[in-house]
Amino acid sequence: MQTIHDTIIIDGQEIPFTKGQTIMDAALAARVYIPHLCHYPGLTPSGNCRLCTVDIGSKSVAACITPAAAGQEISNNTSALNDARKSITQMLFVEGDHICPSCEKTGNCKLQAMGYYLGMLDEHFPQFYQHREVDASHARILLDRGRCILCDLCVRASREVDKKNVFAIAGRGTEAHLIVNSSTGKLADSNIEPGDLAANICPVGAILIKEQGYQVPIGQRIYDQHTIQETGLQENSVKKNDD
Ligand code: SF4
Ligand code: FES
Repeated sequence: MQTIHDTIIIDGQEIPFTKGQTIMDAALAARVYIPHLCHYPGLTPSGNCRLCTVDIGSKSVAACITPAAAGQEISNNTSALNDARKSITQMLFVEGDHICPSCEKTGNCKLQAMGYYLGMLDEHFPQFYQHREVDASHARILLDRGRCILCDLCVRASREVDKKNVFAIAGRGTEAHLIVNSSTGKLADSNIEPGDLAANICPVGAILIKEQGYQVPIGQRIYDQHTIQETGLQENSVKKNDD
């Protein structure tokens, strides 16, 4: 059992942390939700979606990669921060093909659920209409890069949990894209399997298991019944119980 060393304050609430925990780790352990898309309990944080930005005084930091330190006074659930998170979510929507009613992931999609959570009513920014390659080569797994938000979760899940290193992100800025580490660059020639964490962790509809379309009817899906706040806290407690 770890020893509690000290506390941080989030929105006026005192929260204990242990050495090595990030602000996100400490918050979720105390059942305080900090919005996030690229954080997943048990995987090394990457800090790339910036949804988890919080303020420590005048400094903005990503909670998932910033170590908790005694006495930090952190603002999280403020209208300014939630407005900034909404803008990030809107940008993610316009960068890709997120046409929710025609996506198999609708109702199970974390990006869509984040939009609901933050009260997003429109995309605000003009659409990018990017053309990104679909890889339907694998018999059981589909990769639609048009929906990829480059959260890096499949990359980390494949490397850290599946021990396969199937995915990587290549390029920078608007050129960034997901690549498959196989001789042809196609999923069919990789060793990914439908049971891998990497095949199931995608927060959006970019990686889908084939032959499972619409098995759960719309209206009975995860975010038809829960908020992303509830599932974010739940994911963390499941991981804690597994440890
Ligand atoms: Fe994230 Fe999905 Fe893109 Fe992988 S395919 S980087 S899990 S959005
Ligand atoms: Fe922290 Fe994505 S959850 S940057």
